[in-house]
Amino acid sequence: MLVRGQPMRTIWPAADGAVEIIDQTLLPHRIEIVRLDGLDDAVRAIGDMQVRGAPLIGVTAAWGLALALRTDPSDAGLAHACKSLAATRPTAVNLAWALARVESAVIALPPSARAEVAAAEAAAIAEEDVAACRKIGEFGADMIGAFAARKSGETVNILTHCNAGWLAAVDWGTALAPIYVAKERGISLHVWVDETRPRNQGAALTAFELGQQGVAHTVIADNAGGHLMQHGRVDLVIVGADRITRSGDAANKIGTYLKALAAADNRVPFHVAAPSSTVDWRLTDGVAQIPIEERDPSEVTHISGALADGTIGMVRVAAPGSPAANFGFDVTPARLITGLITERGACDASEAGLLSLFPEEPDAFARNSRKR
Ligand code: MRU
Repeated sequence: MLVRGQPMRTIWPAADGAVEIIDQTLLPHRIEIVRLDGLDDAVRAIGDMQVRGAPLIGVTAAWGLALALRTDPSDAGLAHACKSLAATRPTAVNLAWALARVESAVIALPPSARAEVAAAEAAAIAEEDVAACRKIGEFGADMIGAFAARKSGETVNILTHCNAGWLAAVDWGTALAPIYVAKERGISLHVWVDETRPRNQGAALTAFELGQQGVAHTVIADNAGGHLMQHGRVDLVIVGADRITRSGDAANKIGTYLKALAAADNRVPFHVAAPSSTVDWRLTDGVAQIPIEERDPSEVTHISGALADGTIGMVRVAAPGSPAANFGFDVTPARLITGLITERGACDASEAGLLSLFPEEPDAFARNSRKR
């Protein structure tokens, strides 16, 4: 997608075998490229959220494993790198999925051959993610086109939560891909952007992305969505996901569930857009089984932003001394989800729906998981 009119991705291999990323902790105030030279850099980039978003976490972990194998390609090195990367963030299953895929590709090889094959696998995962996100965009844009037709070409208002755009993937994104493709098709759109406390991925990242692509949007306080839905100002909600169970429950950024409840109460369609790498075929009950990341409470008590002198800093918003809790994700039960949008099309948020599009996936997932 475009940054200042130039096409960019979120992660790419450098000429010398290192990997480069955009440091998302500095957006939208500064665009800085950071080099990842080895395992520790990759672990830090994911843990500190220089890269974030389920698909991008997976791709970065895949590259991180490839970087680690350049230094220590032994069986012990492989196991240590997988363990360190897997421990960075617990909710997005794309991380474990991508690690399992790279590990499967190299485990039977002699150590000297592993790094090169792992880098090729990481590059393949990245390219597949771009293709999957573009397909999600096309299927989702068909859906937005149907809303536009029903409204006789009037502007379609879409609400989204957090950042599930190109910054959360390698390119295009998941929830925002349909918006970008719909814009390409000339559909008139406007996006309500939830600010998404505590880290403000909506206000900082989604608003930045949409602005750079010229998509009309308005940042709203996290609590405003229900009011807008009651007044008919939201035609549909599209969000991303960090993990979807085989029964169609979806974990996404904290606050997504509340939007789904408001959408159900107001009969506003609520769609979850995600590639199949986000489906965890082992799980059947999202609320009970999906691990929810808890992050440092300082992300709740403080807020980061550009200060008057242009530096990026933190300011305290909570009363000094008050304890805070920082739950990163919540689970929206399948019954509140109108449908899933995947790289193979749209389906019901249910086991039958997912299996109608991905009949082979449960077996492939089980095979890869057993190897870890
Ligand atoms: O904590 P983050 O910023 O990694 O959370 C990101 C989200 O919750 C996204 O909505 C989700 O990963 C879908 S990304 C395409």
